[in-house]
Amino acid sequence: MANPSDPADTDPAQNLSQNLSRFANLGFEDFRRMASDASLSAWEKIGFPDSYRQGVEQHIFADISRKLPALNATQQVVLDIGPGCSELPRYLIDQCLRQQHRLVLIDSAEMLALLPSGQGIEKLAARFPDCPELISSLQGRVDALLCYSVFQYIFAEANIWSFLDACLSLLAPGGAMLVGDIPNISKRKRFFASDKGIAYHKKFVGRDEAPEVLFNRPEPTFIDDAVVMGVLARCRAAGFDAYVVPQDSLLPMSNRREDILITKP
Ligand SMILES: C[S@@+](CC[C@H](N)C(=O)[O-])C[C@H]1O[C@@H](n2cnc3c(N)ncnc32)[C@H](O)[C@@H]1O
Repeated sequence: MANPSDPADTDPAQNLSQNLSRFANLGFEDFRRMASDASLSAWEKIGFPDSYRQGVEQHIFADISRKLPALNATQQVVLDIGPGCSELPRYLIDQCLRQQHRLVLIDSAEMLALLPSGQGIEKLAARFPDCPELISSLQGRVDALLCYSVFQYIFAEANIWSFLDACLSLLAPGGAMLVGDIPNISKRKRFFASDKGIAYHKKFVGRDEAPEVLFNRPEPTFIDDAVVMGVLARCRAAGFDAYVVPQDSLLPMSNRREDILITKP
């Protein structure tokens, strides 16, 4: 499988520019094609090697549930933009069925076809925010909005501000949105410049060799601290609270990824 979601992870701090083009090239249409490719596992269809997600998605869901408490209430409106097709959306579907939520899943038809259906589960085949009818029908009504491991693709191939503005317009008073699993290259560099990161890299590559970490240069197509801070500033200016929150250390990429939690007062 040649397209992990965070390609630089294939060799933690090497070949960044080579991996960068692969990262930039993975988009909505690639995921649609991968969803239909029977030779790929469920994780490979969403761009991860099995080893990144197998056996840990229950921890990811637990982390998400702590950050989106509406998931544990009853009869809420829940929206998942880009659920993919692995175990993670199945945990969400099960929780929504148990708690009698209305759950709207937006992804390609090919990806959604791989997910189970059920009472209160609605599947919309669309590329968000190119779904004006749904956006208009859900204005100010969503209690929990999940966008997990998707924002980097929006950043690489679309307009993050249009995406974000559309998402914010959907939140109900007291509602929350989790922009989860953001690969922030600034956080990644901080980690690989640390003693812990150097030891991690040496173990990963199996050689006594420090990672090469380069600062003060443009990083086209990568999300960095400037983007993360820009997202916070835009949400706050629009009347929302917005925070950078760490991932549980049980999560496989918590040393180089982070989440943004946005709440509507
Ligand atoms: C890396 S996968 C993440 C899947 C899932 N959220 C997870 O973390 O397991 C990215 C998913 O987002 C979907 N996607 C990408 N851009 C999207 C958009 N603009 N609207 C809806 N879905 C999108 C892809 O089709 C794919 O299923």
